[in-house]
Amino acid sequence: MAFSSALDDPETDPFDIAREAAAQIAERTGVDHHDIALTLGSGWGRAAELIGETTHTITATDIVGFRAPSLTGHLGTLRSILLPSGKRALVIGARTHYYEGHGVRAVAHSVRTAAATGAKIMVLTNGAGGIKPHWKPGQPVLISDHINLTANSPLEGGTFIDLTDLYSARLRALAREVDPSLDEGVYVQFRGPHYETPAEVQMAKIIGGHIVGMSTTLEAIAARQAGMEILGLSLITNLAAGISPTPLSHTEVLEAGRAAEPVISELLAKIVERL
Ligand code: HPA
Repeated sequence: MAFSSALDDPETDPFDIAREAAAQIAERTGVDHHDIALTLGSGWGRAAELIGETTHTITATDIVGFRAPSLTGHLGTLRSILLPSGKRALVIGARTHYYEGHGVRAVAHSVRTAAATGAKIMVLTNGAGGIKPHWKPGQPVLISDHINLTANSPLEGGTFIDLTDLYSARLRALAREVDPSLDEGVYVQFRGPHYETPAEVQMAKIIGGHIVGMSTTLEAIAARQAGMEILGLSLITNLAAGISPTPLSHTEVLEAGRAAEPVISELLAKIVERL
């Protein structure tokens, strides 16, 4: 049987593929160790320009296990960035979403690869809907915890991983040194790609959620498994369905991301300086 990605073959070990991907990144960049990794979601792309000097840009699909992104508004590159501190950041502009249907291994691959390059801190960003009614489109918020409604896990077999303090309190405090006004909330991942119904948003609220989105939780679990410390940031691109007085539109979500990009990119760059 032919597999479209090495990760699809159940006989392969996804960590072997991640190590192979990390070796390819080292070969192409000449950088054999990264300290920090960032996944840049909707609205966060420009941060890559601000955090340091990009020394190498790789097309993600040239690296084993990475897939072409299915959406415009999502970049398909991996960048090695030299930070002013002398540390190295790997910027992942190629997220595979769970809703694309390629399975949890494909979703977790970028994080596992980042860990295999040596990164000890994983910064996960996304564009998302807000449940707190006073939040405004264009506002960044910290992720304090999550509820994973995908009914899936990137962990295979009997792998039991503690998720207490999954989104590091230390890193959230560090982010607040840069912007003390940063609010935080519990991120609820739905499968998507449809947006939630107003009833689903109410459910998310009742079970303790404040942010709704279609990414991040499976990546965070994989990052924790890999021993990384995690910082999660959501850009509220819209109020969630039913909280917003108007219907949701993907174009408007992307538009809100673009409008907020300069401000949140600068925020992220300042946070990264302190990591
Ligand atoms: N729901 C889910 N995902 C999203 C949203 C939303 O309201 N906005 C941006 N991504």
